[in-house]
Amino acid sequence: MRISVALCLLTGVAQAQTDTAAKINALISKMTLEEKVNMLHASSSFTSGGVKRLGIPELVTSDGPHGVRAEHGRDWILDNNLADSGTYLPVGVCLAATWNKKLGYDFGAVLGSEAAYRGKDVILGPGINIMRSPLNGRNFEYQGEDPYLVGRMAVGYVKGVQDQGVSACVKHYAANNQETMRFTINVEMSERALREIYLPGFKAAITEGGANTIMSSYNKFRGQWASHSNYLLNQILKKEWGFKGIVISDWNAVHNTSQPLWNGLDIEMGTDLGMLPNPNYGKFYTADTVVQMVKSGRMPEYLINEKVRRILWVMYRTHMMEGKRKAGEYNTKAHQQTAYKVAEEGIVLLKNNGNLLPLAATVKTIAVIGHNADRKQSMGGGSSQVRAFYEVTPLQGLRNAAGNSVQVTYAQGYVIDKSNTAKQALIDEAVAAASKADVAIIVGGWTHGYNYSIWRDNAYDAEDTDKPSMDMPFGQNELIEAVRKANPRTVVVLIGGGAIDMTKWINNVPAVLQAWYPGIEGGNAIANILMGKSNPSGKLPVSFPKTLADAPAHKLGQYPGDSINVYYNDDIYVGYRYFDTYKVQPQFAFGHGLSYTSFAFSNINVAKTANGATVTFTVKNTGKYAGAEVAQLYIHQQASALPRPEKELKGFEKVYLQPGQQKQVSITLGKDAFQYFNDVTNQWVTEKGIFDILIGNASDNITLRGKVSL
Ligand code: BGC
Repeated sequence: MRISVALCLLTGVAQAQTDTAAKINALISKMTLEEKVNMLHASSSFTSGGVKRLGIPELVTSDGPHGVRAEHGRDWILDNNLADSGTYLPVGVCLAATWNKKLGYDFGAVLGSEAAYRGKDVILGPGINIMRSPLNGRNFEYQGEDPYLVGRMAVGYVKGVQDQGVSACVKHYAANNQETMRFTINVEMSERALREIYLPGFKAAITEGGANTIMSSYNKFRGQWASHSNYLLNQILKKEWGFKGIVISDWNAVHNTSQPLWNGLDIEMGTDLGMLPNPNYGKFYTADTVVQMVKSGRMPEYLINEKVRRILWVMYRTHMMEGKRKAGEYNTKAHQQTAYKVAEEGIVLLKNNGNLLPLAATVKTIAVIGHNADRKQSMGGGSSQVRAFYEVTPLQGLRNAAGNSVQVTYAQGYVIDKSNTAKQALIDEAVAAASKADVAIIVGGWTHGYNYSIWRDNAYDAEDTDKPSMDMPFGQNELIEAVRKANPRTVVVLIGGGAIDMTKWINNVPAVLQAWYPGIEGGNAIANILMGKSNPSGKLPVSFPKTLADAPAHKLGQYPGDSINVYYNDDIYVGYRYFDTYKVQPQFAFGHGLSYTSFAFSNINVAKTANGATVTFTVKNTGKYAGAEVAQLYIHQQASALPRPEKELKGFEKVYLQPGQQKQVSITLGKDAFQYFNDVTNQWVTEKGIFDILIGNASDNITLRGKVSL
């Protein structure tokens, strides 16, 4: 009985696929060559061409990745008269720091729903490039340094978006790990690094997440533009991974006509031929020239049909052709609550000496210090900008949480400006405020740039720019030193997309919170954590080196390369794979994050299965507060033909526990969890031997060990 139901379902699916294929073929047979080619390139800043006569709509795209972008109209000009302010979600690195796969889905669902409401067909996210160097200006948009974690978060995000009837666009494929020279740099890396580090997130988003579209990146890969790369697009993405959807170029990533079309690109976007403000989209590389080439026999029409087929396939899959997509919702309480939840679970408590946090009930005065405390971040960073429906700043959040019983004062402390210097008068003012208060809270760190209303006034955490160094800008080191001397009960809250050099003050400051760019509700989440209304549970999705010189891309590899090439000689030793193997202590390790309660791991059991192992263990909340712990499972191969990193993440589970409560966690490891890519034989290999199973709550805090012999 069950078998026949399953067969019926399968037959039904196969029938639907045949029906769609037949509809697509019928449409293609009615289209002129010009109409087909019109679908292969932009028709405005954020749309590609449709065929009105046949009811084929334009494909409407929008950034992404942490909110639906402010409207730019068809002409690139920011529209200031529209009701386009929506839910500004925490940035990608904050989402990854939750280590909560369900929140990945919920985040995507908010985005998909708001995109649908705004009439978008494709949301240009998630951004999942690996954080190779702490300097990358777009690290804030990405999901960390570990391919397994990136993959898990991306799968949830993509499904969340696409369940709302909107397509996700995974970006930037591939090897786009720096903004410096992003339009020209050629990336060279080993096949092993490509397969083990830089591709798994994309593979998971496509093969498990089912992403309908992917964005090819600006950079070159092994001598060829990524958007023209036969290897990346045709061989790996379309053949190996069976991708049926659309490859969309990054905006202005296409450089000629034949190569990208033959090598796997489907839609050319954003090509800037100096045409603004009167663009002629027929002048794009994959426009009128293609018509001429096909007509003169220099390009076969089947190549064009194949691309049109892919676009129509996505249009049918997302019900664009029937015009029955879900309506979506905008600025709902539920969306705001998801944004809050991601911030609450993604903010990481890095240090908490003497349990300064949560702030005791005896704290009656708080001096809030720092430009970032009072700064709205949503419109900064470049294409990921969002016009937020509202944005609770850290200062506002602290005022909300303090109510009438606690007095909150504010001093700016430093200024985000291009002079990039300490301002003694502001430091003096901050010191005076701190010395009068029970506690000082400095909100500092990075910024997306200077004036967010000026396009390209970018710096630090922003598109098309990398950070000049890991040093704290705007004289914040001096500020922190002066404030903590005035009041040893000083907490530093860091805004930003990743590591900053803390060496000048970290040993002198008792408590540090990494808050990323925490979105529309970020200030409330920060305040609730500081005041103990929420218990922090975020974990670093990226290692924080002490100094830039300690970062593997800079120590072993090249960054940003010469003016032509960058060689990833750091190879597979990215992030903790480097710190652990080379025995270098980071400032804060991958997976690190403190809680107000304590947890104990016990009773590990490793049971061998047909092609891997099932690992079970117990996590107990041994402290006084309800809280969540992220149990992290790493493997270590005792002896391998090629060197392997000291440990590699292969599973994790976030566990929510009341005081005294315990739960059993079970993690199944398949064959792939034990494999590595042997680039001598050019294949994934599983070697026989002993594998250590390491469980802990951070990559540098392993508390349970087991073994399995394969
Ligand atoms: C960025 C993409 C973005 C696109 C459209 C490009 O410059 O690299 O991430 O989606 O612009 O705004």
